[in-house]
Amino acid sequence: MTDLIFVLNGPNLNLLGTREPEIYGHDTLDDIAAMLDDQAREAGAEIDFRQSNHEGHLIDWLHEAQAEGAKAVLLNAAGYTHTSIALLDAIKAIKVPVFEVHLSDPHAREEFRHLSYVGMGAKAVFAGHGAKSYQLALDVALQV
Ligand code: DQA
Repeated sequence: MTDLIFVLNGPNLNLLGTREPEIYGHDTLDDIAAMLDDQAREAGAEIDFRQSNHEGHLIDWLHEAQAEGAKAVLLNAAGYTHTSIALLDAIKAIKVPVFEVHLSDPHAREEFRHLSYVGMGAKAVFAGHGAKSYQLALDVALQV
């Protein structure tokens, strides 16, 4: 069976490319999806790539990842990373390993970004490498 990896993106990431490019770079979310698609296909895997500005969608999709038998989830929860106990609970409620991803390095930014609820449940964190953070995370996720 082909390995399935869910890639879930949180609020404001639909604006990548034009959103604070000095922090997040010039790649759009479609560019990132295309890169990951190629990377997954080369490894004989498949990506289900989604974005929502709504916390509940991300929670529903974490549950769905488990129901669909996904091998892993890459999660860039964006601002919800730092606020959402409900997302942490969802990560803990499923057996699928979740990898936390960020384009920027939240630890090198404002203090309110240093706390990560997602990180308390995630298997590993990939941050600070722009779009490459996703590629590094996918590389590892494909090996679990
Ligand atoms: C982000 C970092 C978060 O602190 C921020 O709220 C985002 C994007 C990143 O990918 O660097 O929206 O998750």
